[in-house]
Amino acid sequence: MKDRIHPTRRRVLQGLAGATALTALPRFAYAADPVKIGLILPMTGPFASTGRQIAAACRFYMQQKGDTVAGRKIELILKDDTGLAPETTKRIAQEMVVQDKVTALAGFGLTPLAFAAAPVATEAKVPMMVMAAGTQVIPQRSPFIVRSGFTLPQTTSPIADWAFKNNIRRVFSMVTDFAPGLDAERTFQTRFTAAGGTIVESVRTPLRNPDYAPFLQRAKDAKPDALFVFVPSGEGLAVMKQFDERGLRQAGIRMIGPGDVVDDDLLESMGAPAAGVITSFHYSAAHESPENRAYVDGMMKANPGMRPNFHSVGGYDGMHLIYESLKKTGGTATGEQLVEAMKGMKWMSPRGPMSIDPATRDVVQTIYLREVKMVNGKPWNIEFDKFENVGPAGLG
Ligand code: PHB
Repeated sequence: MKDRIHPTRRRVLQGLAGATALTALPRFAYAADPVKIGLILPMTGPFASTGRQIAAACRFYMQQKGDTVAGRKIELILKDDTGLAPETTKRIAQEMVVQDKVTALAGFGLTPLAFAAAPVATEAKVPMMVMAAGTQVIPQRSPFIVRSGFTLPQTTSPIADWAFKNNIRRVFSMVTDFAPGLDAERTFQTRFTAAGGTIVESVRTPLRNPDYAPFLQRAKDAKPDALFVFVPSGEGLAVMKQFDERGLRQAGIRMIGPGDVVDDDLLESMGAPAAGVITSFHYSAAHESPENRAYVDGMMKANPGMRPNFHSVGGYDGMHLIYESLKKTGGTATGEQLVEAMKGMKWMSPRGPMSIDPATRDVVQTIYLREVKMVNGKPWNIEFDKFENVGPAGLG
């Protein structure tokens, strides 16, 4: 393979550490060339469910809408960054830009990985579709970033209001110790204490190899009305198991948070112990709409045994943004023109109505309050209230 690389490009590849290398190559788009989308996801490791869900949703989008847009064939190039190595994500992004000449970068399962790739998008002037990572500041890291997923302040603020209105006064807070966890912690604590609530204790669990048992024992001993929890998707099952085994529910402690902890990908494995958990979030596989019914049916048919989760819609809607911006600009547009075309776009997603805020390039969407309920023997996040047009900073 290496022998096919042009000598100039090989030099650039060898000198990738010097970021200026990325602009040294002319970027010609020919109508006959395919539009390549470089999808970088954790396909292995502790966050592999994020990669599996997003890759499946991107493929499902292409299966539904076809693989040609504005006269050009769309080609998805999927690479595994293993989830925990920002340097790997950055290197893959550089290779995709220089070797594969991708039209857009996409994916980004966790915040540190999105942070690592942002300078590559800026240097190469390539749109970077953040489909999963949820820390609010991410789009500020590059003018080429557009987010199709969610932000933590957006998904967390409604549960803070709900908790106080529903007589929860004393909360034990537990979040994963990295950027989105700190966003969730700050958003919840600010709103809940402003309303008159008390945080009895606030703990942060490690991102790598976490053991939730000692933290949940402390939570039980503190006798709060509720445990507020944020863990990245993939971790909810371990938290639920310990919550159940240590008897927090029997002690009268409720579990609340943004919906990552009751992620649809794992919810069936959690089973009955998840019932009663109340969260605020932008997507539930149980969302009642014709668009979502078609989405869940189609995804489950294409991927037997997989219930689509919130990350999957981030992937699906990210593909929508790429397709629609290509349609709008005619198929040979620059990265700047594509990003410009995405700003202000509005559409109906399986999750509900959504748009891209032109000022921040971030998602504006409906956030729902949901309770886990058993339906025909299986747990689902059943929506019972909603807040429309919530921006990236959360409820005002
Ligand atoms: C993130 O890294 O931003 C992230 C990952 C998984 C989540 C939420 C946020 O469930």
